[in-house]
Amino acid sequence: MKKTMAYLHERKRSGQKIAMLTCYDYRTAVLQEEAGVDVIFVGDSVGTNVLGYESEKEVSLDEILYHLRMVKRGVRDAYLLADMPYRTYEEPSIALDTARRLLAAGADGVKLEGVQSRVVECLREQGIEVWGHLGYTPQFHSEVALQGKTFEQAAALAEGALELQRAGASMLVLELIPEELAEAVTKKLSIPTVGIASGRHTDGQVQIVNDMLGLTPRRLRHVKLYADFGEQALAAFRSYAEEVRQAEFPAEPHARHMNQSELRRLED
Ligand code: KIV
Ligand code: NA
Repeated sequence: MKKTMAYLHERKRSGQKIAMLTCYDYRTAVLQEEAGVDVIFVGDSVGTNVLGYESEKEVSLDEILYHLRMVKRGVRDAYLLADMPYRTYEEPSIALDTARRLLAAGADGVKLEGVQSRVVECLREQGIEVWGHLGYTPQFHSEVALQGKTFEQAAALAEGALELQRAGASMLVLELIPEELAEAVTKKLSIPTVGIASGRHTDGQVQIVNDMLGLTPRRLRHVKLYADFGEQALAAFRSYAEEVRQAEFPAEPHARHMNQSELRRLED
């Protein structure tokens, strides 16, 4: 069964958590789909995790579209979300063009950072599902730092969340804010919240797939290593290189052979 926005909202109402992961390629999408991940998300974190960029700001719309198309081929039931990259939603008409291209490439909804009420209203009027993103937002903050620590900052964030909901946002991602604030915002909103590095009480959780698989050199407090593919891949690459140098790989079981008569003709 396709996981629609109505389904995600029903999950909040019934108190069932929403599991979301970033995804940047076809094969990973197939695995996430098979595992029953609810929301598969082509984030602009593709820039730092896959493309080797310093910042999410370097990611272009064409790059998001390229990764979105490969992920789409592996998604069946999961809700497929795509990020609107830096400077592709500065005003409603540009945002509409960006969102239409992402939907045409297979996204079910689009995400933008900050309290961009006019943009959200415009997309929503066109029937597009928009996700907000508050707290630490890489397109607008240069330093990774906890947001909403003081009363004033927390109140402003909560007000921004309500404003996004009023403007017609369907969902809200909360990144790197105190658990208490994420819980308060989650209770205030009727739309579901999905948290990253924001504690336990949001309606869902999102992780960067490379982080949870151990493919990222950084070790962050909010990350749980569900596997350590980085270590395993390094060991595998070392063994392979060594075995090739030692002529241990390939071995007899990896080889194919000619039949004897063909071989004799070749040798003649
Ligand atoms: O691009 C991304 O991975 C994100 C998540 C951190 C929410 O925006
Ligand atoms: Na992002």
